[in-house]
Amino acid sequence: MSAVATDPATVAQMHALLKTTETLREQASRGQSDAVRAAATEFVASLQPDPNHPDPWMDPLASIRAQAETLATHETDEQAASALAQIARACGDCHVSADVQERVAATLDRGATPALGSTEADAMRVHDWSTQRMWDSLVAPDKDRWVEGTTLFVLLPSCVDLDPANEEHALRCDRARAVARRAHVVSDLDGRTSVMGDLLGTCASCHRAVSAPKG
Ligand code: HEC
Ligand code: HEC
Repeated sequence: MSAVATDPATVAQMHALLKTTETLREQASRGQSDAVRAAATEFVASLQPDPNHPDPWMDPLASIRAQAETLATHETDEQAASALAQIARACGDCHVSADVQERVAATLDRGATPALGSTEADAMRVHDWSTQRMWDSLVAPDKDRWVEGTTLFVLLPSCVDLDPANEEHALRCDRARAVARRAHVVSDLDGRTSVMGDLLGTCASCHRAVSAPKG
């Protein structure tokens, strides 16, 4: 148990932060760049500096604001993905300095581990769950969740088995898997933040290709 008393106003603010940043992450993963820029612009406006915050909170808050500004004007999937990963990291930095990691970790619950299965839809449930788990591990921060998330990625069936007819698709899929394998063995926070950005950067191009009109 943490010694710090819970403050309902802060908790409400935290749930709002969590919702906003996860929405941004989901939009970015779907390749909805315009929606990300619009939502991030609102997010920046909502992040007003508050002189009452304790000193150790200032750097994480400034970092979140700077990354939100990047999201509001980003041009590539990679820029957006990297900014999102650094936001998750900054959440974690403040939670460490406020000594509330365990409380945050206990709040973030993604439900049971999904079954591996053998279809593309199964693989996507695993992608989604694992990516969220890795994200949570930065937000809390919580080391075990990183390992849980990356382990499931590594266990996924091979890309060629999922869609043998589509070479370009298999290449994109291999790229995402290669990043996840790299992520599995990274143990420091800087490295994890960077590889989280690389991983999030692989989702959008594939989803755009899937939803593009054929022909
Ligand atoms: C400036 C410091 C700071 C930053 C930045 C910050 N948090 Fe927090 N967070 C806290 C504190 C302090 C608590 C504990 C609140 C309490 O229990 O009173 C907390 C608690 C939480 C909780 C648990 C709430 C609950 O139900 O008990 C979640 C979830 C959370 N933060 C998410 C986030 C996310 C997501 C971000 C980044 C987008 C973030 N936080 C950024 C300070 C921060
Ligand atoms: C190799 C291509 C590929 C990559 C890489 C990929 N996806 Fe997917 N994703 C798909 C396909 C195909 C679907 C199914 C689309 C459909 O038929 O609706 C899908 C659907 C999804 C869905 C359900 C639909 C939705 O929009 O909510 C989620 C969630 C998802 N992917 C998460 C992810 C995440 C997170 C990543 C990055 C870590 C990722 N995917 C990377 C191909 C990919």
